[in-house]
Amino acid sequence: MSNFMIKGQVIDFPDAQTIRHHKKGAIVVSPQGKIIWSGASRKLPKQHAKLNVLDHGEKLVMPGFIDPHIHFPQYRMLAAPGKDLLDWLNRFTFPEEALFKNEDHAVRAAKIFLSMLLANGTTSASAFCSSHVQSVDALFSIAAQFGMCMIAGKTMMDSNAPDDVRDTAQQSYDDSVTLIERWHGNDRLQYAITPRFAVTSSPEQLRLAGVLLKDNPDMIMQTHLSENHDEITTVAKQFPQARDYTDVYDSFGLLGKTSLFGHGIHLSQDEKARLAETQSRIIHCPTSNTFLGSGLFDLNAAKTAGMKVGLATDVGGGTSYSMFKTMGEAYKVAMLSGYKPPVSELLHMATLGNAQCLNIDESTGSFDEGKWADIIVLDPQATHTQRFRQQLSTDITDTLFSLITLADDRSIMATYVAGKRKYRAG
Ligand code: GUN
Ligand code: ZN
Repeated sequence: MSNFMIKGQVIDFPDAQTIRHHKKGAIVVSPQGKIIWSGASRKLPKQHAKLNVLDHGEKLVMPGFIDPHIHFPQYRMLAAPGKDLLDWLNRFTFPEEALFKNEDHAVRAAKIFLSMLLANGTTSASAFCSSHVQSVDALFSIAAQFGMCMIAGKTMMDSNAPDDVRDTAQQSYDDSVTLIERWHGNDRLQYAITPRFAVTSSPEQLRLAGVLLKDNPDMIMQTHLSENHDEITTVAKQFPQARDYTDVYDSFGLLGKTSLFGHGIHLSQDEKARLAETQSRIIHCPTSNTFLGSGLFDLNAAKTAGMKVGLATDVGGGTSYSMFKTMGEAYKVAMLSGYKPPVSELLHMATLGNAQCLNIDESTGSFDEGKWADIIVLDPQATHTQRFRQQLSTDITDTLFSLITLADDRSIMATYVAGKRKYRAG
């Protein structure tokens, strides 16, 4: 086994303002799947001149997408017709998640779920599993087979949910400890402490989530925050001593730079300031927010408040696995608030920015040397609409802008995980 080279229009997004583009570019990959060199082909160091080449010609070669908030057991329940968040959870989500107690179901689902991610160009994710350990075992074992970077955890939920998805505070703690020992740090797998949200946790369960985080300070903690008005009212009743929703999590030691909060649409200035101060991450999920009628996230206000914001699908409240669809919806929601995000900002969020939110940016998210070769190949003319649109496009910025609105899984020609092709179109 020796090094090999991937050629094409090589593009990545080192920051929110920059599109790094080599029209004739190359990436040299080691047999272990790491990037050894990337740049313009004409600058290729001599020692790489004779490598085997996978030449993608005019196609776009970009970092794999990173989805920092997605629900594995909701893999087939996209577009379930809920009235709002709490109705959708009770009528559709909890019954579907109950099926993941069955190991065979969970393994079958994990294969489909991860294949869907790869077919959409997503090479890393932070995922909620169900409350059953079987769902975590299934997802991690298949993700390891695919060589993917997968962050995931058992959903802790001991309140306000049916028996077949509910645990107890102590059981959720014990299960989490067992799963951490079994999976955390194996290959590219990381465990995430995963209390679903304050509505479905007792104070004791949130306290134990805080203990887990204190004992594992580098571990991701993921939950939901301030997505829907009825949710916020319910939390205020359940936790009357808390100043606000953010303070519920804060009081149990759950804020910080490894903490991911899905949504955060209806936060007060005080909450934003506290989240920014603690470097907590807010994960914006636009297709979910519009589908469930949760509200319009104000991206610019969040940034102005100093919050670090990631961008995610939130499948199955979200309506697509595609990070293109997600960027497209984020663009539209931002436009409704009077802010026009540059294309570089959205693509940065979907790649290196999300890697930064998950603290995995040293190993993935861009084409810097030493990172894993997590790479997607895109056809910017995959559909008739795209083909005609590209006739008007004179530069790469505009091509990428058009793809944010027009592309989806049909544009993904190939997906490489750690240098191995794991998906090919057709
Ligand atoms: N809040 C608590 N659980 C969920 C979930 O599964 N999806 C969404 N969108 N919000 C939640
Ligand atoms: Zn969610």
